[in-house]
Amino acid sequence: MKAIIYYSLSGHTKKALEERFQGDFFRLKGKIKIPKRYFFQLAYLGMFSSFNAKLAYEPFEIDFDKYNEIVLGSPVWAWTICPFMKKFLKHNKFKNKKVTLLLTNEGGPGKAMEHYKKYLDPSNEIVDEISLVLGLDYEKSTIIKR
Ligand SMILES: Cc1cc2nc3c(=O)[nH]c(=O)nc-3n(C[C@H](O)[C@H](O)[C@H](O)COP(=O)(O)O)c2cc1C
Repeated sequence: MKAIIYYSLSGHTKKALEERFQGDFFRLKGKIKIPKRYFFQLAYLGMFSSFNAKLAYEPFEIDFDKYNEIVLGSPVWAWTICPFMKKFLKHNKFKNKKVTLLLTNEGGPGKAMEHYKKYLDPSNEIVDEISLVLGLDYEKSTIIKR
């Protein structure tokens, strides 16, 4: 059984995951006000990302014993995984799972894939690493409404 855990601001990561995986989906919902304009998003959210701030998200329950596979999905923000995913992984040290790592980005993933791995317990087995360039129309897309 798969748990698919992700953050997605404008839907690219969500869509990429839904097209590829079946299982229980868990969306990290950030507790932060998102600026409307892309330029300000880059500046404001990118700043949190660069400074490695682990931003809060709305808490949810997940029983890791139910799942043998975990899929993680994050957009790339400032060449790394988004701060909500960092916080989630820091506080949820699941073990002995098969793990797939998925990123969406505009072509500059930086070291985001390596950053994912830094947060994982070494007992996990990484079975796939997927980096998708599909955020190019980002400015035209809308932020997912709650
Ligand atoms: C704050 C911010 C920073 C970003 N930084 C990068 C980056 O460093 N490299 C890159 O290729 N794309 C970057 N992007 C583009 C997103 O990674 C891309 O559009 C992604 O597919 C968005 O996923 P989502 O629709 O699931 O939120 C950034 C977007 C935002 C909002």
